Amino acid sequence: PQDVGILAMEMYFPQRCISEAALEEFDGVPQGKYTIGLGQKYMVFTDDREDINSFALNAVGSLLKKYNIDPKSIGRIDVGTETIIDKAKSVKTVLMQLFEEAGNSDIEGVDNVNACYGSTAAIFNAINWVESSSWDGRNAIVFAGDIAIYAEGSARPAGGAGACAILIGPNAPLVFEPVHGTFMSHTYDFFKPNLSSEYPVVDGPLSISTYLIALDNAYSRYREKYAKRAALANGHTNGVNGHANGANGHAEPKGKPSLSDFDYMVYHSPYGKLVAKSHGRVMYNDFVENPSAPEYSSITPADAEALLAVPREKSYSDKAIEKTFIGLSKSHYAKHVGPSMECAQRCGNMYTASLYGGLASLLSTVEPKTLQGKRIAMFAFGSGCASSYWAVKVKGDTEEIRTKMDLLARLDAMKVVPCEEFVDALKIREKNHNSAPYTPSGSIENLWPGTYYLESIDDKYRRKYAMT
Ligand code: ACO
Repeated sequence: PQDVGILAMEMYFPQRCISEAALEEFDGVPQGKYTIGLGQKYMVFTDDREDINSFALNAVGSLLKKYNIDPKSIGRIDVGTETIIDKAKSVKTVLMQLFEEAGNSDIEGVDNVNACYGSTAAIFNAINWVESSSWDGRNAIVFAGDIAIYAEGSARPAGGAGACAILIGPNAPLVFEPVHGTFMSHTYDFFKPNLSSEYPVVDGPLSISTYLIALDNAYSRYREKYAKRAALANGHTNGVNGHANGANGHAEPKGKPSLSDFDYMVYHSPYGKLVAKSHGRVMYNDFVENPSAPEYSSITPADAEALLAVPREKSYSDKAIEKTFIGLSKSHYAKHVGPSMECAQRCGNMYTASLYGGLASLLSTVEPKTLQGKRIAMFAFGSGCASSYWAVKVKGDTEEIRTKMDLLARLDAMKVVPCEEFVDALKIREKNHNSAPYTPSGSIENLWPGTYYLESIDDKYRRKYAMT
């Protein structure tokens, strides 16, 4: 199969959100702490009527319906989530209900877990399957989603909720390029060891430095591996990807790529400010590689020398580096990263769905014609930690995806509610986590029409879903 990648996409998010400005007031913190300090506008939440299974049924059910997908045409489903409600039974098996009527029980794949990275592990699995010798000719679906909630404290405004469903197959308009730069290591920056609570144990500052260290390393491996592959492919005419370059996109670089070799960048977004920092960080990496490039001509020789003198391990907390490159990358960010931030601004951190919500935002904000032939850099990160940097090439028309998702109008239609509702919803979840038997008390009125929701949990912890 050729050009394996994304054929279709759908996003799901609950109907209610709160404003981060209102939360600042509600929490009694200084104005700007969440809106400027974290760079967040709104945060989605839900109560006990929704769980990860209902999210999955909503996202995948809607993908099948909107794109008129024959359930028998699916041969694999991979799930990525860190919203765990069962230590053995996968979310994937719950999704099998959507394929039962069509008589399709021959669907490979189960759940992938590692914080926000599970979605990327799932997508890589699905793509690898289509490209493998065990592929049976059918398409794959990836579901990724999370309910991102934190205990009271400084992490709470960095929560959110949302999910995505992605159809994977050959001859796709969005093709995954084959070079992945990956960085994984053993860290205790954000983890969920307490199974009686939905909340993570999080070391905020460590999670930020872990993210940035992962970005440096994944980007650096990506560039090295790309250059190596390009050198090997040099004798051939068709570059790294085995195909000629698109009409108006960036040419495939011959050596180590830099930011200027991509048209757009999508970063996993825990909150907006970290994405701006990350973009500056990538520019800093490019600067270290080639300080005399014209993009850095506004940095004086004395400043350049001082910036280059900072050892890598100290650079993560160096405010001069951060300030210089956030400043220098500001207009580049607005044009090349900003269009991917719509979902993140409205929904907050969707954990595994954040990166793909970013891609969905990009496809919704940039004209499909403009996107043709473009290269999109992707950075996936999950605490603990796992990360990858790679590129997606737009080889076909993305108009259908944009129209069917109808993302911007749906984000706009969300209800902004008082912060009390958010706090009450978290209290209900907290109090009843792991309860059985249990009947949720959240009002069905708070859900979008046609939404799957949790109806009840019986005395054997079996969950039953209904639709509004
Ligand atoms: N106006 C403007 N800016 C402000 C204000 C204000 N009133 N108050 C604080 N700030 C700024 C600070 O100067 C700081 O800026 P900087 O990032 O440029 O240094 C920023 O807001 C954050 O403030 P801090 O006091 O440093 O940190 P805080 O205690 O608010 O915690 C944190 C922030 C660590 C991100 C916390 O929300 C958290 O733990 N979040 C969850 C973990 C997370 O999202 N990690 C990211 C990667 S891992 C993942 O994806 C889950």
